[in-house]
Amino acid sequence: MLKIRIIGDEILREVAEEISDFDEKLNNLANDMIQIMHDSDGIGLAAPQVGISKRLLVIDVAPVDKEYGPMIFVNPVILESSGEAILEEGCLSIPGIREEVTRAEEILLKYQTVTGEEKVEKYTGWMARVLQHEIDHLEGVLFIDYLSPIKQKIILNNLAVS
Ligand code: CO
Repeated sequence: MLKIRIIGDEILREVAEEISDFDEKLNNLANDMIQIMHDSDGIGLAAPQVGISKRLLVIDVAPVDKEYGPMIFVNPVILESSGEAILEEGCLSIPGIREEVTRAEEILLKYQTVTGEEKVEKYTGWMARVLQHEIDHLEGVLFIDYLSPIKQKIILNNLAVS
């Protein structure tokens, strides 16, 4: 059974590997991740967060944007980004912490579906936000990395004592 890895776990700081096998195993993993994301009331989850250092994300922004349902992204790459938006973010790997983060407002994303089909799509709003947060996970980057050093220190100290 997959378990959500919490900050301090080294896998969260690794650069994840490209996926080349679009097999049933990948499909099962993606579906298991969607289940875990829903069970944890999350709107996005990257494979490294469940201990698998591969370039796979699942997103379901339905709680904040009803236009979208559960989606799977394999090997996602941001081709272009524009604008600026400030939104409060949290992360299943950093429980209890929510902070405002500035990111691009709109992105042009290249990715593969779970069957390996290549797609290029434009995303804005919450989808763009969550995609940027989750793609960071594939590079070993966490949202608290964007906060001031003082804020980061306070958060890490609080997590250490809790
Ligand atoms: Co996260």
